[in-house]
Amino acid sequence: MKKRMIIAIDGPAGAGKSTIAKSLAEVLGYTYIDSGAMYRAITLKIIKSGFSIKDIDNIIDMTLKTKIDFRNNNIFLDDEEVTLQIRSDIINANVSDVSAIPELRSIMVKMQRQISKDCSIVMDGRDVGTVIFPDADIKLFITASVDARANRRYLEIASKNTNTNMNDIKNSIQYRDNIDLNRKASPLKMANDAILIDTTNKSIDEVLEFALCIVKDKERE
Ligand code: DC
Repeated sequence: MKKRMIIAIDGPAGAGKSTIAKSLAEVLGYTYIDSGAMYRAITLKIIKSGFSIKDIDNIIDMTLKTKIDFRNNNIFLDDEEVTLQIRSDIINANVSDVSAIPELRSIMVKMQRQISKDCSIVMDGRDVGTVIFPDADIKLFITASVDARANRRYLEIASKNTNTNMNDIKNSIQYRDNIDLNRKASPLKMANDAILIDTTNKSIDEVLEFALCIVKDKERE
């Protein structure tokens, strides 16, 4: 029987992690889990509940009673599909603060391990290779310059005919980088045994091909 494989992909917002993670999972037949989407879903619930970010006791109590799951790459919060809602500006603006709450992170890490327990997975996020799965079979750290990340996000939003502004996008990326990198609880950092991939001047196909070579090498071990 084939061994259960865990591929951990970490890196800052907009570096191409989720595109690579999704494609890898599809090609390999693994389950894709977007750990950032789980923080987004809980942020949505906090906003809808009207809790302040400082209301830690209520936030923790609510999170413990929350069900988050994925079905066909769509995310469900207490059985309601929220795939699009969690990508809104208000969630973008609040999710880094929510995900910096240490007590909330430990509940989320348990949920993230539980959700992946029976299958081979590709999970992307900020602490997958350092905290959620320190023994992952493969760890990739995918990054790109702030300008390249802002430019990609700009093109993505503009392609949906939505009004957008490059400066706002860049500021929002830098704001989130700053919180993700400097928070006390499991800040974004590359695991010692992760492979660094800088996608600034690389196409998705190039990165995917490289990542697949790494997986094939690992499978041969
Ligand atoms: O990957 P994303 O932009 O959807 O992540 C949303 C937020 O969640 C981001 O501020 C970082 C945080 N996050 C985290 O702290 N740990 C993870 N494993 C995944 C995301």
